[in-house]
Amino acid sequence: MKRPRPCIRPATLADLPAILGLIRVYAKRELMLPLSYGDAIDRLRDFLLLSEGRRGPVAGTVAVHPVWEGMAELRSLAVAEAFQGRGHGRALVQAAVQEARRLGAVRLFTLSYVPDFFRRLGFKDVDRQTLPHKVWQDCVKCPKFPDCGETALALRVGRARGGSGTAVAP
Ligand SMILES: CC(C)(COP(=O)(O)OP(=O)(O)OC[C@H]1O[C@@H](n2cnc3c(N)ncnc32)[C@H](O)[C@@H]1OP(=O)(O)O)[C@@H](O)C(=O)NCCC(=O)NCCS
Repeated sequence: MKRPRPCIRPATLADLPAILGLIRVYAKRELMLPLSYGDAIDRLRDFLLLSEGRRGPVAGTVAVHPVWEGMAELRSLAVAEAFQGRGHGRALVQAAVQEARRLGAVRLFTLSYVPDFFRRLGFKDVDRQTLPHKVWQDCVKCPKFPDCGETALALRVGRARGGSGTAVAP
C-alpha cells in the first residue's frame, strides 16, 4: 500500500506529549540532550512536526530557534525509529532551513551527535568558539557541560545584509 505523503506543520500545545515522548527515547540513549516540560512549552513555537498524512501520528520533530542577528539554531531533530530511513530527517532539515530563511537568518547552526548526517545535507563543521556567547549561556545550563561531545556545524541559508551579526564560518 502506498504511504501517505509526509506533512510538516507547526506544533500546538496538544503535541507536547508526542514531542517529549520522542525526545525522551533518544535522550535516554544519550543521542540527544534531554528536554524538560518547561523548556518544551517555552520553545513550542520553535517546533515543526512531521507526520505521514495529515492525521498520522507525530513521526518526527525539529526546532528552529533564533539565537542572534542573522543566526538561528536547529535543535531537537528526531525521527521515530519506525519511520527512519524514509527521508523524513532530510525533509525536517529542509523545513528548518526554510523556517530559518523566513526568520531572516543567514546561517543555521546545530550542535549534533550525528555530524555525518548533517554533513551529508551540506552543513560544514565550525569551531564552537565562534558561536555567539548566548549559545554558551545555554550550554552551561546543560547537565553535560562542558563535555557533551557534540559537533558544531553550520549551513549558510541566506545573504548577509551587514549589521553586527557574529561571523560563523562557513
Ligand atoms: C538522525 C535522524 C534524524 C535521521 O533521520 P532519517 O529520517 O532516518 O534520515 P533520512 O532518511 O532523511 O536520511 C537522509 C540521509 O542521511 C543518511 N543518514 C541517516 N542517518 C544517518 C546517520 N546517523 N549518520 C549519517 N548519515 C545518516 C541517510 O542514509 C540518507 O542518505 P542518502 O540521502 O544518501 O540516502 C534519525 O536517525 C534520528 O532521529 N536519530 C536519533 C536522534 C538523533 O540522533 N538526532 C540528531 C540530533 S543530535
